[in-house]
Amino acid sequence: MKKVQLLSRGPAETRALAARLGTHLAPGDLVALRGELGAGKTEFVRGLALGLGVPADEVASPSFVLAHEYQGRLPLVHLDLYRLSEVSPEFLPDLEDYLGGPQVIAVEWAERLGNLLPSDYLEVVLTIIGEAEREIVLAGHGPRGERLLTLAAGEAGNGPGAISNNQ
Ligand SMILES: Nc1ncnc2c1ncn2[C@@H]1O[C@H](COP(=O)(O)OP(=O)(O)OP(=O)(O)O)[C@@H](O)[C@H]1O
Ligand SMILES: [Mg+2]
Repeated sequence: MKKVQLLSRGPAETRALAARLGTHLAPGDLVALRGELGAGKTEFVRGLALGLGVPADEVASPSFVLAHEYQGRLPLVHLDLYRLSEVSPEFLPDLEDYLGGPQVIAVEWAERLGNLLPSDYLEVVLTIIGEAEREIVLAGHGPRGERLLTLAAGEAGNGPGAISNNQ
């Protein structure tokens, strides 16, 4: 598994990193986001949306719905599983259908997918370092996940934004 550790110094940097990734996303790609409340998962999804040509202000934190779908260059499904355990089963989106589907998927609280998580995806782990600083660790799982990591990190994986690069 390839891993790159980056430092973001503000929400705009997080969005810019994600937007670069967004320009490379293809149908069926999965971006799995992890990190505590306020870490920047939704900011990252805003960037993905921008990179896919979706207006960023369309991207909100889904509060009572677990899934939002946006139309850009490709359809983007934004899942937020924070409230997964509070949602009665009849309101649950069919996660398995989404995960096997042709859309690009971005999932917040992706660890809650448990064994529904496929083997090929890009994992993004955000950690709060300071008011505006976030550590962002990208981990490529499977061949497509590793390819997405290379496309997302690009020169940033070796540039001044990088804390270290374990590729
Ligand atoms: N470097 C940074 N990257 C991303 N967000 C940052 C950064 N610095 C500060 N922030 C702020 O942190 C907050 C991140 O909020 P966001 O909704 O993206 O978090 P989240 O991980 O989705 O939280 P939740 O689990 O509640 O959904 C925003 O208010 C954003 O402006
Ligand atoms: Mg969020």
